[in-house]
Amino acid sequence: MTAEKQLWYMNAIFYEVHVRAYRDSNADGNGDLPGLISKLDYIKELGVDCVWVLPIYPSPLKDDGYDIADYYNLHPDYGLIEDFKNLVQAAHERGLKVIADLVLNHTSDQHPWFQVARSDPESKYHDYYVWSDNKEKYSDARIIFLDTEVSNWTYDEEAGQFYWHRFYASQPDLNYDNPDVRKEMLNVMKFWLDMGIDGFRADAVPYLIEREGTNCENLPETHEILKSIRSSLDANYQGKVLLAEANQWPKDVRQYFGDGDEFNMGFHFPVMPRIFMAIKEGDATPIRWIMSQTPDIPAGTQWCTFLRNHDELTLEMVTEEERQWMWQEYAPQPRMRLNLGIRRRLAPLMDNDHRKILLANALLYSLPGAPIVYYGDEIGMGDNIWLPDRNGVRTPMQWDDSLNAGFSDAPPEMLYTPVITQGSFSYKIVNVAAEKVDPNSLLSRMKHLIQIRRENPILAVGDYEFLATEVKQVLTILRKLDDEEILCVLNLSEQTQEISLDLSPWNGTSPVDLLSGEVFPTISNNPTSLKLEPLTYHWLNLTRES
Ligand code: NOJ
Repeated sequence: MTAEKQLWYMNAIFYEVHVRAYRDSNADGNGDLPGLISKLDYIKELGVDCVWVLPIYPSPLKDDGYDIADYYNLHPDYGLIEDFKNLVQAAHERGLKVIADLVLNHTSDQHPWFQVARSDPESKYHDYYVWSDNKEKYSDARIIFLDTEVSNWTYDEEAGQFYWHRFYASQPDLNYDNPDVRKEMLNVMKFWLDMGIDGFRADAVPYLIEREGTNCENLPETHEILKSIRSSLDANYQGKVLLAEANQWPKDVRQYFGDGDEFNMGFHFPVMPRIFMAIKEGDATPIRWIMSQTPDIPAGTQWCTFLRNHDELTLEMVTEEERQWMWQEYAPQPRMRLNLGIRRRLAPLMDNDHRKILLANALLYSLPGAPIVYYGDEIGMGDNIWLPDRNGVRTPMQWDDSLNAGFSDAPPEMLYTPVITQGSFSYKIVNVAAEKVDPNSLLSRMKHLIQIRRENPILAVGDYEFLATEVKQVLTILRKLDDEEILCVLNLSEQTQEISLDLSPWNGTSPVDLLSGEVFPTISNNPTSLKLEPLTYHWLNLTRES
């Protein structure tokens, strides 16, 4: 386990940044890399370990950069390659890691490969993509962007054929049966790794290969390709991380860890909606259930957990009934819904109740895995559901109460998207400058939570066990690593709860709450009863004196 603790990502906290939204250094209305560099001290102070930057490559931005037109350059809005090198260097100087998106599955239709592929069927690039003379093939594959696309095939006039795409029609899928495509992607990885980045968040990995009669997800051939990517990474670089974006059930994501020879990390998608269910219902059952469905993963691999990200809050990994319930509770207005999800940020979802926001984070941090903080959620930013697609959760970071929230010196009408000015989420109220100086602000309390979590790697990598209580509103998780033991106790409900636990193995121990420093009475008379205020949480150190 000691060796595992040394793998930097095992106990890391990630910070997801949309560069366009973070800080504009040249007053053109778009956030950029120099802007991000100027905010690295803030990120460092937040206490996180690694910055994940959303796609920053040249792109027509039909999918906000997940439609890449050139893998070897930067979108001019963000800066020059030199700026990227500076970012990596400046981050490393502060002890921060940087990972970037690796979009393997598809390119933009503006990518020169696709341009040649569509115009010249004889060219080698034609076979970089997946073509068909009819739309009948692979009919068992679901459509992901349900609100926009009607088929995974689109007819290309120029080629006179249909091409395959799992996302927008402007994102043709690459053909991973073609060894040249696989080589191209290894070169892409090498290009960015040689600039010193610490790894990749690999986008949409379940869909690399298509096979008739399957749903074209998680196929064995896809795993083989991913394993070969990993082995070539390991052969040439050390200490890098590959993080899988596979929005799948835990047993299927388990396959992406292989025998420790595929991904180092994988997002745990299904635990996320269940945290929202548990807090809305004041009932720990959904968490216990999804964790019971979560298999062990190989040594040296780690789950990546999150509450929100740059996409809609996905409801793919819930039952139809649960989805309807989530929509009804969390997305009462139709505009809040998108595809199979909810386009809202954490704070509005939690009724802007800081107790609930902190509880949700504490719950995430009480479970195994390396959590992600989505930029702006640490200060409780709001959303703008009236913006198209998922843009409503990608509004400018709110730094202070000056014009444009301190995001940009451009005239407001030049911003890539408006800052949030309305109601209780206005940048006049919710901003870094105000929260930094207030010890009770969400930001200050998030920093504290992050700090304690990082000081206790047991919470990231230790074993866990749910202790039995009669009270379904309370989640009790015993975490263990070597001689250390922490009992996480969370009251998910808005009522005071009293629980009684059999803590006899710890007789004689005086638990200390790692978060508040409060010393609890020495455990003697079992069962031990604990009174829990509404929406509160404790991390009780039960480690016995040896
Ligand atoms: C997942 C990304 O998170 C999302 O933003 C994107 O639209 C799709 N993959 C397609 O690349």
